[in-house]
Amino acid sequence: MNVPSPLPATLQEIAGVRIAEIVREFGTPTYVYDAAKIEERLGDVATFDVVRYAQKACSSLAIVDLVRRGGALVDAVSAGEMRRAMAAGYEPGGDPPRIVYTADIFDHEALDLAVEHGIHVNCGSADMIDQFGVHAAGGEITLRVNPGFGHGLSQKTNTGGEHSKHGVWHEDLDDCAERAKRHNLAITGLHMHIGSGTDFEHLSQVAGAMEKVAQTVGPSVRSISAGGGLPTPYRPGETLVDLDAYFEIWDATRRRLAERFGHAISLEIEPGRYLTAESGYLVTEIRAIKRSGSNDFYLVDAGFNNLARPILYGAYHPMAIVPSDGSTTDRPTRSVVVGGPLCESGDIFTQEEGGLVASRELAEAEVGELLVIGCAGAYGFVMSSNYNSRPFAAEVLVTDGRAEQIRSRQTFDEMVRGETIPGRG
Ligand code: LLP
Repeated sequence: MNVPSPLPATLQEIAGVRIAEIVREFGTPTYVYDAAKIEERLGDVATFDVVRYAQKACSSLAIVDLVRRGGALVDAVSAGEMRRAMAAGYEPGGDPPRIVYTADIFDHEALDLAVEHGIHVNCGSADMIDQFGVHAAGGEITLRVNPGFGHGLSQKTNTGGEHSKHGVWHEDLDDCAERAKRHNLAITGLHMHIGSGTDFEHLSQVAGAMEKVAQTVGPSVRSISAGGGLPTPYRPGETLVDLDAYFEIWDATRRRLAERFGHAISLEIEPGRYLTAESGYLVTEIRAIKRSGSNDFYLVDAGFNNLARPILYGAYHPMAIVPSDGSTTDRPTRSVVVGGPLCESGDIFTQEEGGLVASRELAEAEVGELLVIGCAGAYGFVMSSNYNSRPFAAEVLVTDGRAEQIRSRQTFDEMVRGETIPGRG
């Protein structure tokens, strides 16, 4: 199925609210999220028994709460994410468990928190089984299994195969089963996630690998998780995966396992990007326009401290200009490089993997006009840093035509909180 270009050349509104109004009230750079888009994407995957939100994609409390109200359960990969899940209203416990901690290690805080709150754990290493078993003998666990292959948008988002640190290697299941038995832990769930931004073919192969692994582990298994990884369209012409076909493959796997084990198998999916990427926009202001040799630059007030995907993966994000005269008619375009304010040459939003500076055909603009970076709702704000002592951006959620701030812009005092100079009181 073809989707239209993720952004037109010029834009005046996000989810029915004028961008200029949002900026007047909250400034720039600001992340703006369209609640309806997240709800729509939640609806797309509702055929699965459990939609478990990989909150690492966008973990602001209001977004996690929105997803919770939309009926999804939640995944957490750290003590902080377990706390976020609880703060957003998820109660630990439940069958299927409302919060699952998925990781390859327990740091001390995460282990204590999972044990204290009875949070279900999804173990990606044999050591986790032993460490959890000491405190939670008699309980239940899920195993995250590396099926021996992986795939992703970039090598950095490939999480399967022998170069990946993630999951229990598929040939080590007997060892894991023994350890679990020693602690009287039942392996009730299996989970595979081979990468982020994967294609349909690779995603589908996982179902076959899951079936094999489930047969090895046996009838204690009551749930299987297809992991996340569903791609989302970033570039014009990119498509969404055929979710019906994807569900069919997993549903057939689940049905065969249910028949073999003689009991129902719950089918989970764990999307992050798919649910939030398209809902998010990073709104920036163009602060300088200049030319270096043959390159024209739009320099905006957000950098890779706000959105790291381009510098990390050469990721493509659609962009649009907000004409300050309020017009929506097309302006002439020009080929520009879009960069940020950081004191680092890699602070370029239009770059390819490997750091190659690329240019983009964007509408003519002037200093003071706004530039919107689209498809920024997943792995956008969450990967922010304070590099160059730049504060975290504000975040705004648009619901039913109403824009509400869900995170205030970080202040200097908040940024340096906890810092001290020895010898000064
Ligand atoms: N489940 C597990 C165990 C994961 O490790 C991940 C992503 C997901 C689910 C969600 O994957 P998604 O549906 O969002 O593709 N920062 C990178 C993506 C890193 C993904 C890490 N794990 C990016 O900006 O593309």
